[in-house]
Amino acid sequence: MSTKGIRDFRPVLHFTPEKNWNNDPNGLVYENGRYHLFYQHNPEGPVWGPMHWGHAVSADLIHWEHLPIALYPDQLGTIFSGSAVYDAENTSGFGKDGKAPIVAMFTQHGEHEQQSIAWSLDGVNFEKYPGNPVLPNSTLPDFRDPKIFRNPVKNCWGAVVSAGDRVHFYASRDLKHWEKTGEFGPEGNHSQGVWECPDLFSLEHDGKTVWVLLVSMGGNEENHGARIQYFLGDFDGDAFRCDGRFDKPEFLDSGLDNYAGVTYDNTADRIFLGWGLNPVYADKTPTGEFCGLMTLPRRLSLEDTPKGGLRLAGEPLVRDAFGEEVPWNGGELPGQVFLLTVTGEGPCTVELKNSLGQKFRFGVNEQNQAFVDRSEAGFRDFSESFASEWYSKISAPRFYDGPWKLELVFDRSACELFLDHGTRYFSQVVYPDAPYTGMEISGNGTAVLQRLKD
Ligand code: FRU
Repeated sequence: MSTKGIRDFRPVLHFTPEKNWNNDPNGLVYENGRYHLFYQHNPEGPVWGPMHWGHAVSADLIHWEHLPIALYPDQLGTIFSGSAVYDAENTSGFGKDGKAPIVAMFTQHGEHEQQSIAWSLDGVNFEKYPGNPVLPNSTLPDFRDPKIFRNPVKNCWGAVVSAGDRVHFYASRDLKHWEKTGEFGPEGNHSQGVWECPDLFSLEHDGKTVWVLLVSMGGNEENHGARIQYFLGDFDGDAFRCDGRFDKPEFLDSGLDNYAGVTYDNTADRIFLGWGLNPVYADKTPTGEFCGLMTLPRRLSLEDTPKGGLRLAGEPLVRDAFGEEVPWNGGELPGQVFLLTVTGEGPCTVELKNSLGQKFRFGVNEQNQAFVDRSEAGFRDFSESFASEWYSKISAPRFYDGPWKLELVFDRSACELFLDHGTRYFSQVVYPDAPYTGMEISGNGTAVLQRLKD
């Protein structure tokens, strides 16, 4: 529970650090029944600072156990973002007595940004490789966030690393020796910002393999950047090639509180987690002794849509946390954490309201666009950007016509709205000065509510 913020805004279903700061999720790997979540963490305060890897584990991606800090800064620099894999075949040789290691690869941010590795046999204590950095660099000002993946073409490990306005690809047999194989970029750069936190993975669709490249594109208040973009295409074993299907940037999330997200290694499904804030105002958010959260975990898939062709879709993996569906009868909302499903057709605005007249609105507008509007949702003066129209009112065209189903996971201050089989979703935080207790629906929509299971 947060005690120093203006209210208790700490979400229940979304991961938050016990105290102090988090940004990006790092080292997402599943192993022996545990989902590991490492994260960019400053243990000194609720603001960005000298980066460490914080650590938590979960069996269900909802209930997290906090563990000691996994990686500390050293003479090569602080510990920026990166990934981890479960090296089941012990290709690295770090395994011992039949125990396979988790191998993490991360950026050391010192005089230059370089990539290092570390391994763990118990999933808690990490040892840094004495031969670090494994990807040295003395020329590129931005060179970071290595994401390791399995390269099925060459049957080896691959890594994608961001480098300014592009990404670089590498190959390795043992996770220690890496060779550069290609680049992708800067086409599709919507913000002229620095590329960060890339991820490369494949998804099956209609019997075909489609490769997906995620890139977080940095931005600032002027260019309204800082969003996750995705490209669809092919990977030939050396580099990713975009198939040119989109002529404008495709955002993973239509909302603005989802950045630096990547997917889990070693899971059958492709599961995504993102940093649940926008870097432009993250450090000003009014949550007191902690600052930061992760988005809900989402299972990613590809969907053929009637109006938008092939799209990346996300399914929130939290339904099991909620109880039975209860039709809404105009009464009070069930607490500060609930799943609200509104079905209908045509334009519709759903308004969650509190006793102070603050309201969070979402729905489908006259132009068949899905929208969220937090312009009157609560406390917002902590940041001019947050309070601005651009960051408050967001809409995105639907890829479907006709009836819709809006699903809103409301978690104290973190809202995630999903519709159209997850081909549209919006992650937005709100800070109401009093809990939303009422709801109004204008238009053609029927609501059911589910409360958190005990
Ligand atoms: C993205 C990012 C990464 C970097 C980390 C530093 O939010 O800027 O590129 O590794 O945060 O905390």
